[in-house]
Amino acid sequence: MKCLGSQLHSGFDFHPGYLDRAEQEALLATLQPLIQAAPFFRPTMPKTGKTFSVEMTNLGSLGWVSDREGGYRYQATHPVTGLPWPQIPDMLLTLWRQVANYPILPEACLVNLYRVGAKMGLHVDGDERDPKAPVVSVSLGDQAIFRLGGPQRGGPTTSLKLSSGDVVVLGGASRHFYHGIDRVLSGSSSLIPGGGRINLTMRVVG
Ligand code: SIN
Ligand code: FE2
Repeated sequence: MKCLGSQLHSGFDFHPGYLDRAEQEALLATLQPLIQAAPFFRPTMPKTGKTFSVEMTNLGSLGWVSDREGGYRYQATHPVTGLPWPQIPDMLLTLWRQVANYPILPEACLVNLYRVGAKMGLHVDGDERDPKAPVVSVSLGDQAIFRLGGPQRGGPTTSLKLSSGDVVVLGGASRHFYHGIDRVLSGSSSLIPGGGRINLTMRVVG
């Protein structure tokens, strides 16, 4: 575990290189048919309808979606196909058991795809009812500059480079800290065909 400056003792855990290359390839191979069944879609912002630069899909009994009409929410079905989301693979649930330090399994795994130029603004994961369950996030593919702030927008932030196979746990106080992806370093990994970065974020919705 590595503690970061002002985030010290906040419940933030960083596990660099948690998955080795073979494990990353196995995870990607496991994801491929699931993503075929539940293709990436491009969510839109509540009210403005502006599209996200990140493409998304989900695994689990609930998936996180956003659109102009309905806003941010969890739902049991894919917004385009109308089908239930594929199940979260055992490999990911095993990883959750190893790092989450929490007795309940996640219902949701958001799959974010960052192609060239995609990023994610600072935000708090706030659509879940269980305030104690951590968020566990796995990075695959190109490196990304992750920014971690504190509980308030506009407070000090720390930057951290996330590489393929790294795992981040937002637990304790850091569960409700602002975070985002400033940019993805295009071409920094050969893992994902066509390039880019996939981030898997597991959450207990409650
Ligand atoms: C997220 O906050 O949903 C994604 C974070 C990441 O891509 O590492
Ligand atoms: Fe997030």
